[in-house]
Amino acid sequence: MSATRLIALISQKGGSGKTTVAVQLAAGLALEGYRVALADLDPQESASRWAESAPPEAPFAAEVVRLEGSAAAMAKALRPVRNKVDFVIMDCPPSIEHPHTMSALELCDLAIVPVVPSPTDLWATRGIERLILDRRQHRPALRGALLPNRVMRTALAGDVLDVLQDFSLPVLDAALAQRSAYASSAVRGTSVFGLGRSAAAAQDEVTRLVAAVLELIGD
Ligand SMILES: Nc1ncnc2c1ncn2[C@@H]1O[C@H](COP(=O)(O)OP(=O)(O)OP(=O)(O)O)[C@@H](O)[C@H]1O
Ligand SMILES: [Mg+2]
Repeated sequence: MSATRLIALISQKGGSGKTTVAVQLAAGLALEGYRVALADLDPQESASRWAESAPPEAPFAAEVVRLEGSAAAMAKALRPVRNKVDFVIMDCPPSIEHPHTMSALELCDLAIVPVVPSPTDLWATRGIERLILDRRQHRPALRGALLPNRVMRTALAGDVLDVLQDFSLPVLDAALAQRSAYASSAVRGTSVFGLGRSAAAAQDEVTRLVAAVLELIGD
């Protein structure tokens, strides 16, 4: 792969699944043979803690780097990392006003917005969409995409997913269902791929997410 790709997980609402998706995507790309770094931009340091709680016999699949400050400061800190990896997955804080989120939007090739199918998440997604479209005026290469997360088979979820199709940003050809495997993998410091066959459905979802991301920004 030629240049290192930067993928940021952003959302306006807390708890939409940024850290969960960042960790699973990092692990899924590593499983495909890509070299991956997981960048933690969130002062809560959830992604770092997740990876650090991996058991010694099964270290987390991606190197973790903490990033802070301006886009220039992050770009500088990433310089030695870029030489070593194909992808940097950036886990952002739960606010689009946070300076780290703005820095990520200055640097990333693709911004993925996890959206839980609820009316409040939907409204919050309008704000992010505006922000990404606005940044794109300055950086036309910036891509953005929505990712349904915690999807349940309910009429409400179906309605929300229908409405997502009307957004200007594309909806990724992937979705993560509401599954205990995603939370369990955090407790065990692994991804769903570290949980064995009991997590097969979640593994399939992450594999599909990896394919959708590669289709959008892979070589
Ligand atoms: N697909 C899913 N199925 C089940 N639980 C999920 C799923 N996605 C996320 N969760 C759970 O939802 C909670 C919030 O997820 P996560 O921490 O990834 O969100 P976040 O957007 O990073 O939150 P914050 O804004 O606080 O950083 C966690 O307890 C996580 O285990
Ligand atoms: Mg988080």
